Amino acid sequence: MSDRIHTLSGYFYEYQKSVAEPENFWARIADSFHWKKRWDKVLKWDFKGPNVQWFVNGKLNITENIFEKNLFAYGDRVALIWEPNDPNEESKKITYKELYHQVCQFSNALKSKGIVKGDRVIIYMPMIPEAAVAMLACARIGAIHSVVFAGFSSTALADRINDCEAKAILTSDGNFRGNKKIAVKAVVDEALEKSSVETVIVCQRTGQDIEMKSGRDYWWHEVLEGQEDHNVAEEMDSEDPLFILYTSGSTGQPKGVVHTTAGYMVYTKYSFENVFQYAPGDVYWCTADIGWITGHSYIVYGPLLAGATTVMFEGVPTYPDAGRFWQVVEKHQVNQFYTAPTAIRALQAYGTEPIEKYNLDSLKVLGSVGEPINEEAWRWYYTHIGQSRCPIVDTWWQTETGGILVSPIAGITPTKPAFATLPLPGIQLCIVDPEGNELTGNSVEGNLCVRFPWPSMIRTTWGDHERCKQTYFSTYKGMYFTGDGVKRDHDGYYRILGRVDDVINVSGHRMGTAEVENAINEHPLVIESAVVGYPHDIKGQGIYAYVICDMTHRTEENLVNEIKDTVSKIIGPIAKPDKIQIVQGLPKTRSGKIMRRILRKVAEGVTDNMGDTSTLLDPEVVNQIIEGRK
Ligand code: PRX
Repeated sequence: MSDRIHTLSGYFYEYQKSVAEPENFWARIADSFHWKKRWDKVLKWDFKGPNVQWFVNGKLNITENIFEKNLFAYGDRVALIWEPNDPNEESKKITYKELYHQVCQFSNALKSKGIVKGDRVIIYMPMIPEAAVAMLACARIGAIHSVVFAGFSSTALADRINDCEAKAILTSDGNFRGNKKIAVKAVVDEALEKSSVETVIVCQRTGQDIEMKSGRDYWWHEVLEGQEDHNVAEEMDSEDPLFILYTSGSTGQPKGVVHTTAGYMVYTKYSFENVFQYAPGDVYWCTADIGWITGHSYIVYGPLLAGATTVMFEGVPTYPDAGRFWQVVEKHQVNQFYTAPTAIRALQAYGTEPIEKYNLDSLKVLGSVGEPINEEAWRWYYTHIGQSRCPIVDTWWQTETGGILVSPIAGITPTKPAFATLPLPGIQLCIVDPEGNELTGNSVEGNLCVRFPWPSMIRTTWGDHERCKQTYFSTYKGMYFTGDGVKRDHDGYYRILGRVDDVINVSGHRMGTAEVENAINEHPLVIESAVVGYPHDIKGQGIYAYVICDMTHRTEENLVNEIKDTVSKIIGPIAKPDKIQIVQGLPKTRSGKIMRRILRKVAEGVTDNMGDTSTLLDPEVVNQIIEGRK
């Protein structure tokens, strides 16, 4: 535990050291891991390529650092507590030793199906322990996992299967969510009409009827039969890819963010232990889904590398009622609780009654992630959930950053509502104006960049390195650009203001406006569309779509519903526009560019003061849009 920060001066000391001597700093942290072969050099990098390598030529396996390294010390400790959707179903507790055997056995099963190091494996599964086993089993044999959120549509799934040329899919028959039973395997079958894999392995969860294609589809429990529950972990290079995770950007199709083995391992454990101040024996619960980066880094890898007991929850915050989270906190005596502002705001709407039934005294630390947390939600969380005694860690990071970059250290960094506060050791932030000039000093506002590599940063976008370069390393020379706006206040504290590009954040889920527009345009009667975000009380941002359609065959209501269904089918229900306004035209400049600034204003409810509209081809369009506002 020598890497633990215990005091505020300790934080500043570590931070200074990490900037003055980054290689020594990270070598010291990395030395506490198990290496099959130690690295030759800590860091090689340039942001032009970009080409970033950490722990160069090191050999290791991340699962050995979760299991073999620690089994003698705490093999009988609970690694995973699984809480099912239905509170009447029994929860499961899996020890490190048991998880180790399950991972080995399943990784042997994967090998028996011909899956080898470097193959891509899609995981399209609900929040059941087997999903974590699946990720770790891939890592064990060096297969690159790509988890796809099980709420994504078959089209979105097929796109990802095709993009990474997956060899296998690990899935389940169905999924329990609230009072619904949702088809999962059927979505995979549909996706496989537009893509192909050699093998599908299906875990039984709901028992619903599904089709099994002979020679391709196998039951999880059957492939396990006869498999040994131990094996030798594959030797991986530090820079071998560990996983691909698809995320939305401002243009085109989602891109496959690639994370590699050693740096990701070192950073997720380090940040987990420090930010949450996790102590052995604590029970930690992150409510995210493993389909997102938060689930990867802070349900599975970070906590398990730190020997933590991590809770995995299958259900939703409001089933059977709005007290479900707090019931689980009491039941499992949760010490650290990590969720998204959207969940806090949704529960806030139910008042404090659902909380009062439960004893939340076990809580020590509260976390927030995924989107800016507004002050009101922060205070409600602090007062009613944290009983005004638990520090809130507002953690800012991204799929691309792999781990938390800006956050208070729980109980150590003084907090301020809605501020992510200060960078973690090793994170060299930089605020720039639109021209790329650095804004130094305090009380400044601009675009957030990082000027120096950190171990868990994105290495490339799968199959398209140029896209990685263009998206993150070209806007501002020599820097990683986050896409977020930020303010550094008079104390030097960071407050994230939200995206400055065409990405919207709906309930903490990233969505590209172009991606939603493309989906809307798939409807045969749609001529053109433009999508913007607008402030939404619960979701943070909602999706507002302006659509030009052929109206001769439908009523407006029918068309709006059909467009929503189209988006649901092409991306998934999370991308369904909240508001659709049918318009005659879009505000375009003479060169044909849509003036999104105007569309954003109207969606926000601003109907006067449109700014300069003189470059518009047809300024009258703006009035029509204002009149028809939803
Ligand atoms: O805009 C920021 C917002 O979420 C974006 C990253 O989304 P994603 O890659 O899906 O990862 C979410 C989970 C790490 C960021 O660019 N964001 C994330 N955390 C915060 C945040 N905005 C403000 N405050 C946060 N704590």
